[in-house]
Amino acid sequence: MRQAIVAANWKMNGSKAQVAELLSGFKSGIQNKAAQVVVFSPAVFLADVQAQLQGSTIAWGGQNAHTADSGAYTGETSLGMLKEFGCTYVLVGHSERRTLFGEDDALVAAKVKAALDAGVTPMLCIGETLEQREAGVTGDVCRRQLQAVLDVVGVDGFRQLVVAYEPVWAIGTGKTASPQQAQDVHAELREFLAKADANMAEKIQILYGGSVKAASAAELFAMPDIDGGLVGGASLLVEEFVGICNAAA
Ligand code: G3P
Repeated sequence: MRQAIVAANWKMNGSKAQVAELLSGFKSGIQNKAAQVVVFSPAVFLADVQAQLQGSTIAWGGQNAHTADSGAYTGETSLGMLKEFGCTYVLVGHSERRTLFGEDDALVAAKVKAALDAGVTPMLCIGETLEQREAGVTGDVCRRQLQAVLDVVGVDGFRQLVVAYEPVWAIGTGKTASPQQAQDVHAELREFLAKADANMAEKIQILYGGSVKAASAAELFAMPDIDGGLVGGASLLVEEFVGICNAAA
């Protein structure tokens, strides 16, 4: 039985006051002790997040990290810096990093390796664009994205990471993949990983992301190969995100 994970990706949103309000609401509203909740905050708020979540069951992480330990990388954040603020997770390969910041499969794989080497759990984001889905190559795209990381970190690396399948066409659009659509891809991903190692494939948590709302969460999370969600917009609303977390099986 895989533990459910429900993660909030706040993206580039929030203020100190909003962070305090959201986290207070999450701590008081989330009753589901079975699911692991994770908050991915903008780096500038990590000290606030750490102060407010320390001692709670909610984990937190960064939305991105550089592969280097330090150096002339203006504006970047290292994994060591994330760890200074108690981060135990880091997002890697989010579609917005891939499309807006030119992160290719090789860089994503290097970031996953750097996170594993630093002892921070990578949440590896993969997913197809609308054009790729309409072209019928969803599986090919997702397998290519997974293989690029598998080639670098191997089965042992995959035992220590979480995968988030986020169809790009469902991100921020309000168009949630249907539970069956998502389940079909999750099952295909697990089948692909089983070719590398059946035990790892059975145990790895594969989350769904893309317009998850409280109203759709329970049906999505009830699917056999969906182990939780990576939530964007709805994680900026206390009631919505609490409802999603409490729906996780
Ligand atoms: O990382 C989660 C995000 O990409 C999903 O965004 O707003 O569609 O839930 P949203």
